[in-house]
Amino acid sequence: MTDLVRTKIENGVLEITWNRPDKKNALSNAMYRAATTALLEASDNKAVRVVLLTSEGDAFTSGNDLADFAAANAGGEPPAAMHFIEAIGKFDKPMVAGVPGLAVGVGTTMLLHCDLVYVAETAKLSTPFVNLALAPEAASSLLLPARIGYQRAFAMFALGDSITGKQAAELGLANAALPAAEVVPAARKAAAALTQRPLGAVMATKRLMRDGLHLMARIHEESAIFAERLKTAEAKEAFAAFAQKRAPDFSKL
Ligand code: COA
Repeated sequence: MTDLVRTKIENGVLEITWNRPDKKNALSNAMYRAATTALLEASDNKAVRVVLLTSEGDAFTSGNDLADFAAANAGGEPPAAMHFIEAIGKFDKPMVAGVPGLAVGVGTTMLLHCDLVYVAETAKLSTPFVNLALAPEAASSLLLPARIGYQRAFAMFALGDSITGKQAAELGLANAALPAAEVVPAARKAAAALTQRPLGAVMATKRLMRDGLHLMARIHEESAIFAERLKTAEAKEAFAAFAQKRAPDFSKL
């Protein structure tokens, strides 16, 4: 397992920590694989009653590693993100997130699958898929407009608009927006409280509140479109522009 994802099980809580702060916790294929394995094992492990997602450093995650996307665009390894997204979509025990800062792309869309979310008031949440010539994933094309309204969600997807942690809490994407230093303690406290609840009842509640089959169908529909978009000339230009620290030019494509 890569040390870029730390996992520990303590008092019924599996804590998964993105640990690549020098890259704003950009998620590489190896990191997705490690987190996916941890989630799959947690489903069957009686010692795990709750999963807590959090991060090292000031960012939650800057989303998929764009070098891995560029490699996939060039015909290399397909992104491991899809397996992680499927795992969080199917995960049946409660999930809590502590988001101390920036959450880009899947950093925001994974929160839509968490049952309790605590964010820093100053955190910036964004889903700029169109700026990267991509399309929404993780059933966010369904879940984000349902939570915050169609127009706001479209502006996040298509214009790359971001919202602050404070707005996220006001819009119902998070339980609370807190000073950054208080986020992880609040998330740990909530996770600990959930471990004291009867797990069968918590899981039944989660199952009833989420339309699992519908969500998985949307995840698969999005994944097919995402995989197609990833191979486009538009995406190649977007990834090259990021690597070269310049603005993309889609005008000739
Ligand atoms: N993939 C790969 N590397 C990334 C990354 C990502 N998603 N996000 C950040 N990094 C790297 C940067 O290239 C930089 O590396 P370097 O120090 O070797 O140059 C390092 O992490 C720090 O990022 P930097 O851009 O200097 O920090 P910042 O605070 O100025 O900006 C972001 C942070 C997240 C706003 C900016 O890095 C960004 O826009 N990243 C891409 C986000 C994105 O589009 N994600 C995919 C969504 S689907």
